[in-house]
Amino acid sequence: MADLLEVSGLTKRFGGLVAVKDMHLRVGAGEILGLIGPNGSGKSTVMKLIMGIEKPNAGSVRIGGVEVAGMPSHRIARMGVGIVFQHSRPLHRQTVLENIKLALLPDSLLQLFAASHIDDRAREIAARVHLDHVMDRLPGTLPFADLRRLELARAIARNPKVVLVDEPFAGLTSGEVADFSALIASFRAEGHAVLLVDHNVKSVAALVDRALAMYLGEFIAEGTADAVMKDETVRRVYLGGAIQTAARTPLEANNSAPLLEVEDVSVFYGKAQALQNVSLHVGAREFVSVVGLNGAGKTTLFNAISGLVPSTGKIRFDGHDLTGRTGAQIARAGIVQCPESRELFGEMSVRENLDLGGQHLPRDVSARQLEWLLELFPILKSRHSQAARTLSGGEQQMLAIARALMMQPRLLILDEPTLGLAPVILEQLSKALENLRQNTEITVLLGEQNVTFALPHADRVYVLEHAHFIWEGSPERFAVEAGAQFL
Ligand SMILES: Nc1ncnc2c1ncn2[C@@H]1O[C@H](COP(=O)(O)OP(=O)(O)OP(=O)(O)O)[C@@H](O)[C@H]1O
Ligand SMILES: [Mg+2]
Repeated sequence: MADLLEVSGLTKRFGGLVAVKDMHLRVGAGEILGLIGPNGSGKSTVMKLIMGIEKPNAGSVRIGGVEVAGMPSHRIARMGVGIVFQHSRPLHRQTVLENIKLALLPDSLLQLFAASHIDDRAREIAARVHLDHVMDRLPGTLPFADLRRLELARAIARNPKVVLVDEPFAGLTSGEVADFSALIASFRAEGHAVLLVDHNVKSVAALVDRALAMYLGEFIAEGTADAVMKDETVRRVYLGGAIQTAARTPLEANNSAPLLEVEDVSVFYGKAQALQNVSLHVGAREFVSVVGLNGAGKTTLFNAISGLVPSTGKIRFDGHDLTGRTGAQIARAGIVQCPESRELFGEMSVRENLDLGGQHLPRDVSARQLEWLLELFPILKSRHSQAARTLSGGEQQMLAIARALMMQPRLLILDEPTLGLAPVILEQLSKALENLRQNTEITVLLGEQNVTFALPHADRVYVLEHAHFIWEGSPERFAVEAGAQFL
């Protein structure tokens, strides 16, 4: 019998780049196949080709034995294929409930028959993904994890036979990952075929029946998750080694005047208080990690420091009061934030985005900096003339980090830099940060919920919960005193 999803000889070229080359894969009913590979290896492109969002140059995609390659996306959707995008795409003017209802009624004609059972079914699905308490809210007001839930709810509503799930775990806490894993497992239990992409290797391995690894657009290994993770090529090009840092002595800077002082800072969004009397200090050359779950207020804190949201309280940088300064003035003073939302210039090339970062530096300095960054992230070198908006998720993340570093900031604020990065890139980034600590005057403020990345580098750690700090201390004490909900 034919598998629900059969892909063979699938090939996609973008100009001179072969993003996917002669790929083969099969997923049966009631099966989850994990698709892994480094950033830019072609995973999302494979999904877009199956879904008909991109047209293949060659190859076959069969759904239940029927050829669909080259068909428009809406027809493929009607054949029973659904995609859960990494970036949620809800209808922003409709409530959560209406969003789910619309997914239940893909065909506009059917809306004529919208009846009470549609409403019941939508509420049932919302309850299943734990959205029942926010049914009447607009998506724009939802926290990150709830938006991901809505994206999954819409997929459940469309009830596709073949489900493509692209990076569902990115940015989620371990508790949320467990929830989402259970939901994906329920697709399998109901006899769907699931193709899953994610860089959370442990959670993927725990969930999938089989794994398939790709690199530079091509197949490299397939088998049980265990066997694939042990494959030598997979280890070399994807997994890398464990994150290690050199032992360090506490910085003498800790005793000197702090570079950044945040005192009693509060931020309101309308009536909601996003930050509540928060105080923090970062010494010159110190590395401070702020650890907190989704919605705890990390991004708000960083935006307040960078002058991007209005706040009350005092923020001083290098002894100067930042009150009343614009974001641009604060950036010129040497505070550079690499935002979670990346904020790249999409129509500009990789190279142009980097050049903009370095425009205030003397020519020779910016040239050296550029060379170092392209060595650090070699994939950016090979994509240097490509428009930023067409980069893969992880490539965009690398570009955002590289652009921030290009500015040679005195204080570098990194907001969730690990989002969407392959393990091997995390290891590289970790080495680069360590290298910066040893060889430059840079001071770093890092926001993360990924503590395996946040702790090894940190001199000090703050834990942010519900808009205020609940703990501060050394990374060594973190595991014992504050780690329960993160580890
Ligand atoms: N429209 C496009 N034009 C040019 N190149 C593109 C285009 N879309 C994707 N690419 C390139 O194709 C390669 C594969 O991209 P894809 O998004 O499939 O990677 P991925 O495996 O999903 O990576 P990640 O893990 O970072 O999300 C990337 O190097 C990307 O830059
Ligand atoms: Mg991708």
